[in-house]
Amino acid sequence: MSEQAEIGVIGGSGFYSFLDDVTEVTVETPYGPPSDSLFLGETGGRKVAFLPRHGRGHHLPPNRINYRANMWALRSVGVRQIIAPCAVGGLQPEYGPGTLVIPDQLVDRTKTRQQSFFDGEALPDGSVPNVLHITFADPYCEAGREASLRAARDQGWQAVDGGTMCVIEGPRFSTRAESRWHAAQGWSVVGMTGHPEAVLARELELCYSSLALVTDLDAGAEAGEGVSHEEVLRVFGENIDRLRQVLFEAVRELPTGSDRKCECGTALGGQEPGFALP
Ligand code: ADE
Repeated sequence: MSEQAEIGVIGGSGFYSFLDDVTEVTVETPYGPPSDSLFLGETGGRKVAFLPRHGRGHHLPPNRINYRANMWALRSVGVRQIIAPCAVGGLQPEYGPGTLVIPDQLVDRTKTRQQSFFDGEALPDGSVPNVLHITFADPYCEAGREASLRAARDQGWQAVDGGTMCVIEGPRFSTRAESRWHAAQGWSVVGMTGHPEAVLARELELCYSSLALVTDLDAGAEAGEGVSHEEVLRVFGENIDRLRQVLFEAVRELPTGSDRKCECGTALGGQEPGFALP
């Protein structure tokens, strides 16, 4: 497929469209269909592909999202930079609703998800992925993080620079004991979709960074009551306009093509994947 987009935006709970003037493209992948069509458009002179992570109308719970298909589909239309907003719960009392965190670490507490392209499973075209072990010490693209931080601050939103996102399996929220334990580790926020997105992006040599919007204080944070999905959607809705503005500006700033100086684009270190990257 020809290059139709350079930047991918993956919209989370409560975020089902990004640009007004879009072309809808259906993409097939060796892993089956992505969450929805890709919506291709332009902003700030950049070609963008938007993908609603849960599908339009939110029919996919976090544990049933086809993360491999999503990442494959984005790369197949030319995307090399992904910026991924998501709703999260705050694990520390200072991260209340409306806080924007640009995490620099993650902890994977998911249980059932396919989280590698390099698992030896043959693709429909007969190619067999090699068993590769990629470096993932720093899961997010630093250039992407910086673009989002600058964009948020330019809008007067003092985003938190860094912190650890704990990713749980879902679709249920954490028990109070689980949440207290997550908080006691010093982790900042908890969500359900930040993994395996981040690692799959790295395996496809894509830049990936996350914008974690706190919609609630999780049950283990000092003031946390117990979370409801209605609360998550309501607070996300209250913040979506400014989040969109941050994204517009970040998208304009993200390095693409030969301006990508980070190591995400060489994450395989020259190792042969065993299949053609899309
Ligand atoms: N998404 C939004 N709030 C959340 C929470 N408290 N736990 C997990 N995922 C979330």
